[in-house]
Amino acid sequence: MEKIVALAKRRGFIYQGSEIYEGITGFWDYGPLGVEFKNNLKREWWKYMVYDRENIVGIDAAIIMNPKVWEASGHLKAFTDPLVECKKCNKRFRKDKFDEYWEDFYKKVGRGGVKALSKQYEDIYYCIDRKNPHKEEDLTQEKKFNLMTEVFLGVTEPKQKTYLRGEITQGVFVNFKNIVDSSRVKIPFGIAQIGKAFRNEITPGNFTYRSREFEQMELEFFIKPNEKEGEKWFSFWKEERMKWYKLLGIKSENLRFRNHEQDERAHYARFATDIEYKSPFGWSEFEGIHHRGDFDLTNHNLKYKDPEIEEEYTPWVIETSGGVDRAMLFFLVDAYHEEEKRIVLKLHPKLAPVKVAVFPLVRNKKDIVSKAKSVYKMLKAHFVTAFDDRGNIGKRYLAQDEIGTPFCVTIDYETLGKQTVTIRDRDTMKQERVNIDKLEDYIKEKLT
Ligand code: GAP
Repeated sequence: MEKIVALAKRRGFIYQGSEIYEGITGFWDYGPLGVEFKNNLKREWWKYMVYDRENIVGIDAAIIMNPKVWEASGHLKAFTDPLVECKKCNKRFRKDKFDEYWEDFYKKVGRGGVKALSKQYEDIYYCIDRKNPHKEEDLTQEKKFNLMTEVFLGVTEPKQKTYLRGEITQGVFVNFKNIVDSSRVKIPFGIAQIGKAFRNEITPGNFTYRSREFEQMELEFFIKPNEKEGEKWFSFWKEERMKWYKLLGIKSENLRFRNHEQDERAHYARFATDIEYKSPFGWSEFEGIHHRGDFDLTNHNLKYKDPEIEEEYTPWVIETSGGVDRAMLFFLVDAYHEEEKRIVLKLHPKLAPVKVAVFPLVRNKKDIVSKAKSVYKMLKAHFVTAFDDRGNIGKRYLAQDEIGTPFCVTIDYETLGKQTVTIRDRDTMKQERVNIDKLEDYIKEKLT
């Protein structure tokens, strides 16, 4: 993880939020490569979930809603984590995570000593000191801590209190009638959305894994309310979502499903399965598939008039809810390879932030540099393209391998006469000579 965090900062994927003011726990900023990566991820999700299907439409709802939404959805009462406080040092923890932290802490202390602990372990660092560790019996009774982030609106006192959304989902439910009335969807159908959510997490940590501001990509799929339909669509969406991660290159052995026990399910879920990744900090959830039944539409008093059977009913909902930030983190971890002479991110070309880099073989030959610039301009019109004329070719390859650029094009002496360039494949490191006229099609074909 430390290597991933360092690479992410060094190369401009992810920075600590507000870093020049000592940061702020649980918030992250995405740099030039990070934003490209994230946009690619979201575009692939949207294509797979919306454009490639006939019965899914999209929405982009507001982040702030009338607080009555959160009252009705049950979030004000039940969107909580178990909070405990250490009586010795007054640090606060999630009770359900305490044991996990202990185990992790001792593993780390064993290897590198307390000082080597990274910032995300700050809380536990203060709580557990090696000579006099604070123990479970030092913790207070568990309290329910609500995760919703309060905001205050308006200019006159008292200001109106509402919340930043804790899940993007409710924006879909409150627009259910609008969408049925304004588009031609018929059950079974889905509404997809990607957007920011906010949770006042007790212990943010593991880099972007548990943040206070993050992005979700979700599908709410509305079906007829019966057990058979519920089972059919739950298992359909479970498999579809797992397939997506594999198609984009996550290794099968690092993925698994895990069914939720009844006592860990969210307040809205009749049934839930997580897609988990075998991360450096253990098997961890990065997407939840939830059978929400009629919980939400009933709470919002919404029904559906089925034109086929001329009956009114409350549909059931199967939800797929993934985190953009967690997915990006695990795609990075999975793609990270250390080889004898290089570090390489073997990202799927569709996710790679830069698709192609162009190099002049030498810097001091005007005609080679100007030809390289013209090839760069030509490719830049179609792909995210980098130009690099620093150092030697070997170093330029290494710099692109480290950020996962699938192709590097070099303009050399032969280019001037024959109008051909070399194109190097990131994974095999093999080079081919390709005519400049064919370059665009060559890369396009490889990218798809
Ligand atoms: N609408 C259902 C819902 O929000 P969830 O399991 O609470 O379900 C879904 O969240 C996904 O959102 C998670 O699988 C994870 O990828 C992401 N997520 C949740 N909390 C997060 C956090 N604090 N930081 C980063 N991602 C988070």
